[in-house]
Amino acid sequence: MPNVDTLVQMAWAMNSLRESVLRAAIEALELPPGSRGLDAGCGLGLQALLLAEAVGPAGHVTGLDLSSDLLLHAEEVVREAGLSGRISLREGDVRRLPFDDGAFDWAWSVDCVGYAPMEPQPLVKELTRVVKPGGTVAILAWSSETLLPGHPVLEAHLSATSSGIAPFIAGRRPESHCLRALSWFREVGLEDNTVRTLVGDAHAPLTDEERRALIALFEMRWPGVESELTPQDWAAFQRLCLPESPDFILDNSDYYAFFTYSMFRGTVAG
Ligand SMILES: C[S@@+](CC[C@H](N)C(=O)[O-])C[C@H]1O[C@@H](n2cnc3c(N)ncnc32)[C@H](O)[C@@H]1O
Repeated sequence: MPNVDTLVQMAWAMNSLRESVLRAAIEALELPPGSRGLDAGCGLGLQALLLAEAVGPAGHVTGLDLSSDLLLHAEEVVREAGLSGRISLREGDVRRLPFDDGAFDWAWSVDCVGYAPMEPQPLVKELTRVVKPGGTVAILAWSSETLLPGHPVLEAHLSATSSGIAPFIAGRRPESHCLRALSWFREVGLEDNTVRTLVGDAHAPLTDEERRALIALFEMRWPGVESELTPQDWAAFQRLCLPESPDFILDNSDYYAFFTYSMFRGTVAG
């Protein structure tokens, strides 16, 4: 697990790739202006900013995270955005949310609920508990990517490593995979459950920000893979994915990559 400073740097770097996708997800939710919501596992608070923008000056967002270190960074992010009055941050565990039943109009969580080793269904139940009847529960998960165009076999091998299949863990029940979230939503009694796929992409010529984001993404998706690759794959990985290599794939004039987020959404019964 990278240290907090590395996580923060990566989250900032990735923001240029993810922000438009997550903004589109928030727009699709049509959160009521003036509503109050929860961002569970808020990390640096970057989506709390987008959520606060969506509900407007009369609305409010509570960002909750287990990591007090990340919350210190989040406080700075929120303060610098001038949104301290509209976003509160709270240390807490999504497994036992420190909020009353029905405290929020909606709850949202990105890349947290559905992540191993936490069993997902109780987390969705907990999110549902703190949302009022008629309110929305939405969880989003990074669900696929193609980052090495022209090298599908190498990319398939990388995807089959332990970090490549994260947040899933080999041997886990298929029902606990994040793409099976519709069943978790149904089991906790959420209604009108839907899933939507949101796509982000990047292509040459890459901006400096996109380049930094993709470098961070390579590091995040495939750390420590050497022991799980053949020597040939490891050599190809180093040749294509390390910025100092003369064959670094991001330098290709036809570079193109895409990724998806899956947004599961349901309505609290009542
Ligand atoms: C991959 S990061 C995602 C952060 C943010 N949602 C984003 O997409 O940028 C996962 C976050 O979930 C938080 N987290 C992990 N387990 C948690 C728990 N049990 N309760 C609350 N937050 C948790 C981590 O500290 C981290 O900030």
